[in-house]
Amino acid sequence: MAKAVLLILLSAYVITEMPQASWANRPEEAPKEKVTNLQFYFHDTLSGKNPTAVRVAQAPDSDKSPTLFGATFMVDDPLTETPDPNSRLLGRAQGLYGSSGKQEIGLIMAMSFCFVDGPYKDSTISLVGKNPAMNPVREMPIVGGTGLFRMARGYAIAQTHWLDPTTGDAIVGYNVTVFQ
Ligand SMILES: *[C@@H]1O[C@H](CO)[C@@H](O)[C@H](O)[C@H]1NC(C)=O
Repeated sequence: MAKAVLLILLSAYVITEMPQASWANRPEEAPKEKVTNLQFYFHDTLSGKNPTAVRVAQAPDSDKSPTLFGATFMVDDPLTETPDPNSRLLGRAQGLYGSSGKQEIGLIMAMSFCFVDGPYKDSTISLVGKNPAMNPVREMPIVGGTGLFRMARGYAIAQTHWLDPTTGDAIVGYNVTVFQ
C-alpha cells in the first residue's frame, strides 16, 4: 500500500516536472540571427623592400614544384576600403597561407582579419580554408571571430582585382558574409 502511494507521488512529480524541461527549448525563445556584410581589398605584396607576405618555410623540392607545393608564407596584409593601396586602412590580415596543392595552385589559408578602423574596430574574424587562388572567384569559410564577431560563422567570396604574375603581388577584393 505504502509502495503504491509512493509510486503515485513519484509519477505525479515526473509529470509536473516534464513540461518545464521542454519549456526552455521553445523555438520562439531562440535569439534572432544577425547577418553582417563586409567589403574590403586585401593587398598581398611579396616583392620589394617591404613585403607584407614572406616565405617562412618550404619543402626540399618546393622550388622544383610548378605549384611551389609546401612553401608557406606569413602575412600581415593591409585591408583597405578601395583597391587603391592608399585608401582608408580598415584592418590587417594576419596569419599564414601555404601551397597545399600538387596539381593546381591551392593555398591553405589560416588567418585573422583584424579590423583597426570603422564600425568593427578591434574586432576580428577568422578565415580557414582552401583558396584556389587562380580561379577568378573563390569561396572560403569564416569559422569564428572576436569582439563584435564573437561566435561568428560565414563565408568569404574573394575575387582577384589585380595580379602581377612575375612577383605574385596581388590585390584581392573580399566580400564577407557573417552570421551570429
Ligand atoms: C562584392 O560583391 C559585389 C557584388 O558581386 C561586387 O560588386 C563588389 O565589387 C564586391 N566587392 C569586393 C570588395 O570585391
